[in-house]
Amino acid sequence: MRLVTEPAASPLRGELTPPGDKSISHRALIFACLAEGQSRITGLLDSADVKATANACRQLGMGMREEGSLLVLDGVGAAGLSRPDAPLDMGNSGTAMRLLAGVLAAQPFESELFGDSSLNGRPMKRIVAPLTMMGASIETAEGGTPPLKIAGNPELQGIDYQSPVASAQVKSCLLLAGLYAIGHTTVSEPLQSRDHTEKMLPAFGVELHGSCGVTGGSRLTGTSIHVPADISSAAFFMVAAALVPGSDLLLMNVGLNATRDGVIHVLKAMGADIAVENPRCQGGEEVGDIRVRYAGRLNAIEIPAELIPSLIDELPVIFALAAVSRGVTVLRGAAELRVKESDRLAVMAKGLTALGVELQEFPDGIDIEGGLIGRGRVDGAGDHRCAMSFAILGQVASAEVQIDGAENINTSFPSFVRDLTGIGGAVSVLPGDTRHG
Ligand code: S3P
Repeated sequence: MRLVTEPAASPLRGELTPPGDKSISHRALIFACLAEGQSRITGLLDSADVKATANACRQLGMGMREEGSLLVLDGVGAAGLSRPDAPLDMGNSGTAMRLLAGVLAAQPFESELFGDSSLNGRPMKRIVAPLTMMGASIETAEGGTPPLKIAGNPELQGIDYQSPVASAQVKSCLLLAGLYAIGHTTVSEPLQSRDHTEKMLPAFGVELHGSCGVTGGSRLTGTSIHVPADISSAAFFMVAAALVPGSDLLLMNVGLNATRDGVIHVLKAMGADIAVENPRCQGGEEVGDIRVRYAGRLNAIEIPAELIPSLIDELPVIFALAAVSRGVTVLRGAAELRVKESDRLAVMAKGLTALGVELQEFPDGIDIEGGLIGRGRVDGAGDHRCAMSFAILGQVASAEVQIDGAENINTSFPSFVRDLTGIGGAVSVLPGDTRHG
């Protein structure tokens, strides 16, 4: 799929509720599946990644039905999962694969997880190594990538794991396995990653062991979850409003978890006019409405390394912003970007260069000099966040920008094209290809 953008002809204005939070949606489905009794979820993200998790939970026995905007889930209980009758397809989703691997490692049956060509190239040793320390038996492809063939061992041992990477997927995988393991399982990490798992487990009745640990045998009880709008999707519109002269956007009901809000700190540091209105707490998660008004050309900054886990998924769109800001934006310590849905440092560097941006790529970061954006054709490389970042940058290019490899915007933000045009943006799917968005 190819997206085509034109320079936005007018300011971006209005109100928008971005789609549901992807991280929280995956967890709500998996925890509801493991719970005893019924769970009721509102605001679940309707996207390909979340469908992969929902389908897997169905194959493991969970019942699921819609009642208007409410999703009603019948959990099977942690000990009640059925052996899937076929390998589980995780599509493009690293979160689905890594979290479910933690559950499946502890089952009394074999299972297999596979993904699309992007996911099948992503590193799984980061979960396989600690799960193996717990007693799991998992076979990967050569190089430690999917598919994962999981033998299943209902007698895992709890561990204290010091993760070498700040990764909520690793942490959540081990906490899920730890729910089944003998004794306690705790995880520490070099920098705090998103803590949705730690926040949501207590909502399902699980008492945490310390700040990031669980006790084997803890039971989950069905509950109600309200999924807020995804700050990672909202970020595209925050940046769009900061870029397009005269814009004034209100993004409604956005999750503001402190482990996810780094993009707001960066926008403020660059000089954006951004404010949180009506902050409130919804089911254990902070939410609020975010107003962004155009405030002139922004200034480059050095992005603080300690903020990286809290804005890891927003870095591609921050690069787009850097590409038109005054000065050189500097990022280091972000090698994790190379093992996301694509090598995001390489994909963004190549696309920005094609649009006339001066930059230098480093193994763990990038320097981007702000300037003028020209006409061009770039490759989103099948990575949803890179494709959407180029589309946002296209709003302030001097002429048309074409973005190939954009089909996976469906994994996190199927309504992106409609939502961007709805507030006055200029983006379309190339005529003849209307399968998405
Ligand atoms: C996620 C964690 C992050 C993030 C991903 C979603 C999650 O990945 O990039 O999009 O829901 O746990 P890592 O855990 O690999 O950093």
